[in-house]
Amino acid sequence: MNTVKNHYDQQLASVYSWMAGTPEGALKRNQDFFRQLRIDSKRGLAIDLGTGSGFQSIPLAELGFSVLAIDFCAALLSELSDRAKHLPIRTVHDDILNFPHYVEEPAQIIVCMGDTLTHLESLHSIQSLLLNVERALAIGGNLILTFRDYASVELQGTQRFIPVQSDQSIILTCFLEYHEDTVEVYDLLHRKDGEQWILSVSSYPKLRVDRNWVCDQLQKAGLQVVQNEMINGMICLVAQKL
Ligand SMILES: C[S@@+](CC[C@H](N)C(=O)[O-])C[C@H]1O[C@@H](n2cnc3c(N)ncnc32)[C@H](O)[C@@H]1O
Repeated sequence: MNTVKNHYDQQLASVYSWMAGTPEGALKRNQDFFRQLRIDSKRGLAIDLGTGSGFQSIPLAELGFSVLAIDFCAALLSELSDRAKHLPIRTVHDDILNFPHYVEEPAQIIVCMGDTLTHLESLHSIQSLLLNVERALAIGGNLILTFRDYASVELQGTQRFIPVQSDQSIILTCFLEYHEDTVEVYDLLHRKDGEQWILSVSSYPKLRVDRNWVCDQLQKAGLQVVQNEMINGMICLVAQKL
């Protein structure tokens, strides 16, 4: 079975930012999102767990945070560095479970957004991440999680084929195969080569994470859930260290 890391390294990294439409659009959406949450009145350290190409790290740095941006995909980190040369963003190439090794001061905000949480190997990994988040946050600091609901929703039949993005030379389609605790995500990437379309297929498992279970784990870790809603098709939980 393929690993999440291999999947990003070999299939998704090369099209990740393209998948979002324009990078500018994704950056603006997150900037507006952070402003709505009124976190722009804070300053200090922000930690971005699973930063990808920086769709949260860049707006956070532009709002005045110094950002620790962690991801295990080197190609996406290098894209982030190219896009954000002038900003106070420190990139770290490692597993997000190791993030405490790189934290030198209490964080005002920690984000794990864009469905990164479901990429972890097990529910136990999520529990351990949340405990470390609580330790790393300053009093009054916030954690923001956004992730997809694969737990209460199970697409059926042809609904499981999802057109993600396309242009004249690339088509990305996703196919979901549900298991009890995970959903196997197949990315079907068609690339035009002259007159021919070349297909490459790769898959990786995502966890089916229940929203109420995450709220319970946040509480157990000592974080209070202050916001719980759906935003742009994703569950959005904001928790605070009191
Ligand atoms: C769906 S993308 C989200 C990226 C970004 N947060 C966004 O919203 O565009 C998930 C990211 O998490 C990274 N990732 C997944 N599991 C990880 C892990 N255990 N450690 C480090 N990075 C991980 C992937 O490489 C990828 O960049």
